[in-house]
Amino acid sequence: MSERALRGLIQLAMLLCLMLSAGVAIGRPPRIGEYSVEKVAPGVWRVRIGEPEKGTPTRFQETPPSREAMERLAAVEQPPVKPSAIGVKVSGRGIALEIPLEPNEQLYGLGMNLKTFQLSGSKKTVRVSDDQTTALGDSHAPAPFYVSTRGYGVYVDTARYASFYFGNLDAVRDVPPDAGNVNGGAPATSTADLYRPRELNGQFVGVDIPAARGVDVYLIGGPDMRGAVQRYNLFSGGGCLPPLWGLGVWYRGSTELGQKEIESLLRQFRERHIPCDVMGLEPGWHTHSYSCSFVWSDKYPAPEKLVSGASELGYKLNLWEHAFTHPSSPLYKPLLRWSGDYRVWGGLVPDFATPEGRRIFADYHGRQFAEKGVSGFKLDECDHQPLSATPWSYPEQTAFPSGLDGEQMHRLVGPLYQQTMASIYRSRGQRTLGLVRASGALAASLPFALYSDAYDHRDYVRAIATSGFGGVLWCPEVREAGSLEEFYRRVETAVFSAVTQIDCWYLKNPPWKQIDKDLNNSGKFMAGWERTEAVSRKLLELRMRLLPYLYAAFADYRSTGVPPTRALVVDFPQDPNVRAIDDQYLFGPSLMVAPLWTGEKKRTVYLPQGDWYDFWTHEKLSGGRKIEVTKPLDEIPVFVRGNTLLPLAEPVEFVSAQTQFRVTVGVFGAKPRKFVLFDDDGVSLDFEKGVQSRLELSWADGRGTMSTTGGYRGPSRYKIVGWKAY
Ligand code: GAL
Repeated sequence: MSERALRGLIQLAMLLCLMLSAGVAIGRPPRIGEYSVEKVAPGVWRVRIGEPEKGTPTRFQETPPSREAMERLAAVEQPPVKPSAIGVKVSGRGIALEIPLEPNEQLYGLGMNLKTFQLSGSKKTVRVSDDQTTALGDSHAPAPFYVSTRGYGVYVDTARYASFYFGNLDAVRDVPPDAGNVNGGAPATSTADLYRPRELNGQFVGVDIPAARGVDVYLIGGPDMRGAVQRYNLFSGGGCLPPLWGLGVWYRGSTELGQKEIESLLRQFRERHIPCDVMGLEPGWHTHSYSCSFVWSDKYPAPEKLVSGASELGYKLNLWEHAFTHPSSPLYKPLLRWSGDYRVWGGLVPDFATPEGRRIFADYHGRQFAEKGVSGFKLDECDHQPLSATPWSYPEQTAFPSGLDGEQMHRLVGPLYQQTMASIYRSRGQRTLGLVRASGALAASLPFALYSDAYDHRDYVRAIATSGFGGVLWCPEVREAGSLEEFYRRVETAVFSAVTQIDCWYLKNPPWKQIDKDLNNSGKFMAGWERTEAVSRKLLELRMRLLPYLYAAFADYRSTGVPPTRALVVDFPQDPNVRAIDDQYLFGPSLMVAPLWTGEKKRTVYLPQGDWYDFWTHEKLSGGRKIEVTKPLDEIPVFVRGNTLLPLAEPVEFVSAQTQFRVTVGVFGAKPRKFVLFDDDGVSLDFEKGVQSRLELSWADGRGTMSTTGGYRGPSRYKIVGWKAY
């Protein structure tokens, strides 16, 4: 026998042994084999199967689980899924799991997605992708975490392109229940009969993880769906608390604008009273081959003057970049040892999984930019193109010094890059908020919001809803528009989202002067654009009125794990009517938003059980039913939950160290729940050491009261100027 044949035989024998030890045999479910179960946090059990890979999301998690906060959630005593009931198969392909499922469970999650909402019955693969055109699981922020309407979550700790089959695999166990009974036992007479979708009735979630020979599965208790989402976020370290200015309005100037033009835009906004906190710049440090030098180009001859001038006018600056490092960059040589073995656009791919690669990148950015007043970054191109025949990013077979391969790096680089850039500010005791085009698992504590080149308004709203299942934030940015109606509707959605950004990276002038891209860039403004500007100003002012409410929602995200934007099913899992709703979402504790689309003068809105109030008219509406809603172009359908205290501020144009919000508290319902405003300096990390206060608002016997507790001694951010009962 030749040596090759012998080797083949040995491999085959090993595979057979493995399969047998894993209990693979037709007719019975695969057995779990070697495993151990450990309770790793309140309500979270880790099932360790075989020997897990080293390069997984938990290995790179920086923020430890918020155990105390998890302790405060309703207790869960038992793993929500029986670990011994998980089926496991190990083969040359990798490891496959069968995680039990009950009939009629509906599942959600796998990170933020523009195209996918309910998961049951489908197959999805957690691949990072900039192409958001399919419902196959490709996403800017995929995460192997799903939640069930039965009130638990499952997190599979892998950085592989794992595939999930949500109850749609038909395992050969015994005679199927409807065998011979298809079509009442009669032969099918049409192709419709032959190919009709079969109800598989659950059984299990099949997970196919290539390359791995072991894996950790985290079983996350609820006890309800909202609790499971909270626990996942708290397990990730709690949600991020952005600086207060990050919740204001963002604007990005065109790539084509130089320093003078940007400076004039900054002045123009203040003169015309357009609310704006953050100006995004394209600093032009991408070279001719598109990889980055991280050195200001001639477009900005005096960057320090630009930064200080912007700061004097109350702006924060956010700089675009991507990490592929051009040979002309001062970072190239130091990073050479700490990069992957393929270049992208002629530039190095830094390995942010190595402490050295991360430190070199962060130190340089700290010295060159943060130190000089730049408040944050937009991290571009860190996703990938699995659906493209000509992908520009590094291949899956890339080897990185950390030991990760290209597949793992694609899944991990979003969070790793964010950690690197957040560390620049953390080491200076400051907060940042940035933008990023890729994220992943366990990323809730990272202060970044996702964006995309995709631009479908309906998809953008679905992403607001799904981001809440995945511990990430989504920015439904506004660019050009085909009509004024579309423009306003998009701005309205942006106002009710985690980050409100007007992104004019390819528009030389603000879109309220001209919504059409080509006309805008040739300087031809719409007749009567001042009216469009006035409506836009009013909408952006609404965002500023919401800041105290939204800041409280983010403080909650951090301390209780409740995402600031989420699908209705998270809060109302028992209501079967909300299970498929992905065009309405919850915004903070007590607002529900139902955006209108172009061409839609009215829409159907489902109000879950309980009382609701129209945000604009204050009309009381009873829930548990659908209503038809019509709104003028400058109003978005928003509903206030019954028994709510809603703080709304007088709008400011931007947030400064001195800003004090003049707040009127709306009282909706006879017995409103208390509302807690979060008070601190709004910019530093001192709140982590207890330098923060809670301003508790309550209403009883027709009177509002306020009490403060906590350790923040600076000037309060809030002055309550009135209460208004509706
Ligand atoms: C794209 C990015 C856009 C914009 C543009 C600038 O890759 O998605 O948002 O920043 O680059 O060159």
